[in-house]
Amino acid sequence: ELHELKKVNLGIFFIFRLLSSVSATLQHCTAEHQLNLIDLIRKHNLDDYGYIKMINFIRSTNCDASGLMGLPDGSLPWDSEAFLRPVLQDDPLLQTGTHTCYSGPSHDALLQRTQAAEERAQRSEEALARAMEDLHKLKLLAQGLVLNAEPGRSGNLSAVAELREDEDEAYFDSYGHYGIHEEMLKDKVRTESYRDFMYRNPEVFRDKVVLDVGCGTGILSMFAAKAGAKKVIAVDQSEIIYQAMDIVRSNQLEDKITLIKGRIEDINLPVEKVDIIISEWMGYFLLFESMLDSVLYARDLYLADGGSVYPDLCNISLAAAGDMQRHQERIAFWDNVYGFNMACMKKAVVPEAVVEVVKAETLISEPTVIQTIDCNRVCLSELEFVSDFCLKIKDTTDCTVSNTQPDTANSDVMFSTGPQVMKTHWKQTVFLLEKPLSVQAGEELQGKITVRKNKKDPRSLLVTFDLRDRKQTYSLQ
Ligand SMILES: C[S@@+](CC[C@H](N)C(=O)[O-])C[C@H]1O[C@@H](n2cnc3c(N)ncnc32)[C@H](O)[C@@H]1O
Ligand SMILES: *[C@@H]1O[C@H](CO)[C@@H](O)[C@H](O)[C@H]1NC(C)=O
Ligand SMILES: *[C@@H]1O[C@H](CO)[C@@H](O)[C@H](O)[C@H]1NC(C)=O
Repeated sequence: ELHELKKVNLGIFFIFRLLSSVSATLQHCTAEHQLNLIDLIRKHNLDDYGYIKMINFIRSTNCDASGLMGLPDGSLPWDSEAFLRPVLQDDPLLQTGTHTCYSGPSHDALLQRTQAAEERAQRSEEALARAMEDLHKLKLLAQGLVLNAEPGRSGNLSAVAELREDEDEAYFDSYGHYGIHEEMLKDKVRTESYRDFMYRNPEVFRDKVVLDVGCGTGILSMFAAKAGAKKVIAVDQSEIIYQAMDIVRSNQLEDKITLIKGRIEDINLPVEKVDIIISEWMGYFLLFESMLDSVLYARDLYLADGGSVYPDLCNISLAAAGDMQRHQERIAFWDNVYGFNMACMKKAVVPEAVVEVVKAETLISEPTVIQTIDCNRVCLSELEFVSDFCLKIKDTTDCTVSNTQPDTANSDVMFSTGPQVMKTHWKQTVFLLEKPLSVQAGEELQGKITVRKNKKDPRSLLVTFDLRDRKQTYSLQ
């Protein structure tokens, strides 16, 4: 109502009923009515009497703010002594502090009051800033505790869920550009596996409520809708979701698919529970990006009893490769670079795992599974693990390489990202030994692999190999 009051005197009348202090009144006059009493006092060089007359003039006439502020210097409309008579009894604007009813506040007193008010506001603002800073420190501290907690003790608390928005910005920015989505969509092994699974299992999806964690362009949501889902909720934090909104509309699926922009950890779903969670969360070395954390978060919060997460089973496998040419290109290369010795670079090169396509014929052992992940059961702490492995070195003379994807005739659909089958955008992850190991056909190469999230960046991984008497840690970023 106050905002609609055009007349200053009416305004002041209301203000007195609502605001208690004079400084608040002055601030209100300035903010709401563009009437700056301090400026008026200054402009017309008003003494206490002039001030009292002005206040009484404003109260007794119906003049508005622009009229008052635009008054020329000199002849003032409140010159008459009649305006010394108070219009309001006990007018608060005429009695401030020690002043009597008839000695209005001086210019200085008013200024002091406003200054005091401003200082109070400033102090509150500073206190607020300090509180925010403390809160931030507390959050960092809590985060540090989580990141540094031993796996197992961290329970199902997810380091990724604890990331601040600004810390995770780069990650979601990387998915904002269309290029990465084009690459994923064009990966037929990947995308057709999802499609085939959903289209071949309509009884699994019929009339179900499906959550798509990290929908990207919305492709999996549309497969699910076509497979018969009653409702699909598609969530993505990256800007690509705006494209997904257009895509879903262009395909007349807006009645079935609800798109929500946000981190799955931050948003509220429009339903309490879902029957199925689908997601394509797999990164290099399966676990890179730690997006599975977000899927497990969604599972624990939203999956109905008896519901399912798809894909459900994943293996990480390890195989030995003997590719001396590639090793030379990557390691021995540094011994002589245009005639210069850059061998010190090896110490920097080796610890960075390489994502590249491995030639199947360079494998010198069968792959061995080092970790199986059941997405319906696994808990967060199991995504960091230690595993003993044994690589049986094969006789390279009788090596056979099959170059087809595994059989997908039945309603179970699976795909491999191994070097023996059609390559995918995940390629393989290669851990180079600084010095090659020599092995013999039939030999069993024993070792231990440790997979940890990088405490400084829970989306990247640290992988340590203990092999014979050597130990090397690799980062994946
Ligand atoms: C590998 S892409 C898959 C995109 C799409 N589902 C597909 O199959 O083409 C993963 C997507 O998940 C999103 N994402 C990752 N973590 C998320 C989270 N916690 N909340 C919301 N979206 C997330 C990313 O922005 C990215 O678009
Ligand atoms: C782990 O998940 C369960 C089930 O969602 C939840 O009740 C519990 O509070 C979570 N614990 C932690 C430490 O986050
Ligand atoms: C995963 O590994 C287990 C052995 O640990 C094996 O029984 C299973 O068939 C493998 N699954 C896939 C999809 O390769």
